[in-house]
Amino acid sequence: MKIAVVGTGYVGLVTGTCFAETGNHVTCVDIDERKVAKMRNREMPIFEPGLDLLFHRNIDQGRLSFTTSLAEGIEGAKVIFLALPTPPGEDGSADLKYILQVAEELGPILNQYVVVVDKSTVPVGTAEKVRARIAANATVDFDVVSNPEFLREGVAVDDFMKPDRVVVGTTSKDAQKVMEQLYAPLVRQGNPVIFMDEKSAELTKYAANSFLATKITFMNEIANLCELVGADVDAVRRGVGTDTRIGNRFLFAGIGYGGSCFPKDVQALEKTSKEYEYDFKLLDAVMEVNHRQKTKLFPKLIEYFGGSLKGKTIAVWGLAFKPNTDDIREAPALYNIKDFLEAGARVKVYDPEAMENVKEIFGDQITYCSHQYAASDESDALVIFTEWPVFRTPDFDVLQKGLNNPIIFDGRNLYDLEVMKELGFDYISVGRAE
Ligand code: UGA
Repeated sequence: MKIAVVGTGYVGLVTGTCFAETGNHVTCVDIDERKVAKMRNREMPIFEPGLDLLFHRNIDQGRLSFTTSLAEGIEGAKVIFLALPTPPGEDGSADLKYILQVAEELGPILNQYVVVVDKSTVPVGTAEKVRARIAANATVDFDVVSNPEFLREGVAVDDFMKPDRVVVGTTSKDAQKVMEQLYAPLVRQGNPVIFMDEKSAELTKYAANSFLATKITFMNEIANLCELVGADVDAVRRGVGTDTRIGNRFLFAGIGYGGSCFPKDVQALEKTSKEYEYDFKLLDAVMEVNHRQKTKLFPKLIEYFGGSLKGKTIAVWGLAFKPNTDDIREAPALYNIKDFLEAGARVKVYDPEAMENVKEIFGDQITYCSHQYAASDESDALVIFTEWPVFRTPDFDVLQKGLNNPIIFDGRNLYDLEVMKELGFDYISVGRAE
């Protein structure tokens, strides 16, 4: 099948590359000329494990190409994916200007029946708006389908290739047939393509992300309570997670969720609820608790150092909002580094992938280290914000000898309490005894 993907951000590029891998001919369209030139030059613009290989293979096989021209990109396409940004506007609602602009441009250049697919996370009612914008100038028949994405950064290729489910919102039989054909290679193991109306599909995406954000936040609140009553959140997690109705995934307490999706989507769902005059109390609580959670270690550092961080050197391991990505959007580390600096501390950081992005924010206010121990050496404390695998089993001997004080503040509960005690570390984590 010939496919066009408009927008080569994270979702667009993964979608385009993976559909090329299943044998389709994919043209990716982006207005960013420099980016398109780079991709034509076989340069991968994002960091995503496993994507490089597919990207290069499909370019080499002639199934994946790039253009800045929408008309050229959609020529002969049976399906056009819209994978465009929907940044939060000032009031928290998703801004649809990019999607609606492309919809408007599409109308006059469509020359055969086509399925236009909203892949971006968009509020309820967007498919209707896209349809109206295209219809205003179109001379051929077309359908607009909502097909929300459930990719996680860092494991996006796997999530795409082996989805738990595919959600498709359309009431058109023609569009349904095309989408079934497209996804057939990906759902062979029996995971379903779930068809529904457009609005339900749009809401499904927000409901899924908000539910997951709520699940994490619930455990973070349990963790905070554990600290007060002297319980261990890891034990509680194992205890509740074995109930199959709850499930054992996404129950890890820590210093709050971040990234480009959960914070934005919870906020947008709350905004949609308000628009319909529904008071979605739970979402307000989730946002408030998560905000508080992100900096919950900071007062503990202040307390540990007797009321002030002035003149102290703080080592930071992990800047990305989670492992296996260089994405730092809404990353807890950023909020904390800001607090450390304002409190008069010097900050030395190490992250396997995200340091370049952090440089754009903090510039030379902090020190970027080429190695995790270069950050911890001669620092007064180590603070861990991201559970990169390389931080899970460090050389504790090197760490201890390098640190001025044997103190670790761990926002991701990486280490065993007993082991840390035996090794002689002061160890402060989340929801566990100190
Ligand atoms: C999330 C969803 O998981 C995807 O299904 C969805 O497609 C995507 O948003 C999106 O809307 O595009 P992502 O933001 O890449 O994916 O990251 P996750 O792996 O879901 O992690 C989100 C945050 O939750 C991270 O900050 C992570 O550290 C935190 N988290 C996750 C916890 O604190 N505890 C957990 O148990 C799990």
